[in-house]
Amino acid sequence: MFRKILYPTDFSDVSKIAIEYLRQLKESAVEEILLLHVIDDRDLQFSYLYVFDEYGGEKDLKQKLKDDAANKLAEIEDKLKDCGFKITSRIELGIPLKEILKAEQKEDISMIIIGSHGKSNVEEMLLGSVSEKVVRKCKKPVLVVKR
Ligand SMILES: Nc1ncnc2c1ncn2[C@@H]1O[C@H](COP(=O)(O)OP(=O)(O)O)[C@@H](O)[C@H]1O
Ligand SMILES: [Mg+2]
Repeated sequence: MFRKILYPTDFSDVSKIAIEYLRQLKESAVEEILLLHVIDDRDLQFSYLYVFDEYGGEKDLKQKLKDDAANKLAEIEDKLKDCGFKITSRIELGIPLKEILKAEQKEDISMIIIGSHGKSNVEEMLLGSVSEKVVRKCKKPVLVVKR
């Protein structure tokens, strides 16, 4: 029923609570996990104003964000490696919701696991900006891990 899981992460503390759930999923016949991080290109445009000089321009900043994300995904893979899943890590550049929906549609995903909140983690919000839209728009079951 839940053979292949999509786990989008922004590396926030809330999203990391989900890792412990992922670890326990082996008992639920899960075989495969797709780890996805989306570099939000809307943030990126804004960031150029501040870090252009430090990173020597647009190309280097993108590369730095990709390298950082690759390292963080490798850490998560490491935490899950003894569980016996097939794990694939993916980094996309774009709008998080769109890329999550694309992954859901293109891959044979059975369920999505996501943090209720992420980096912004606004106290009064029931759900974060991405998780709210994922629950709304994704077709597959969504497990929302609370903060
Ligand atoms: N850029 C992203 N790439 C992949 N997953 C993301 C991204 N941003 C958020 N998520 C997922 O959505 C969850 C909720 O984050 P979000 O809705 O952005 O909350 P907030 O508004 O508090 O930042 C995160 O815990 C993570 O699982
Ligand atoms: Mg966010």
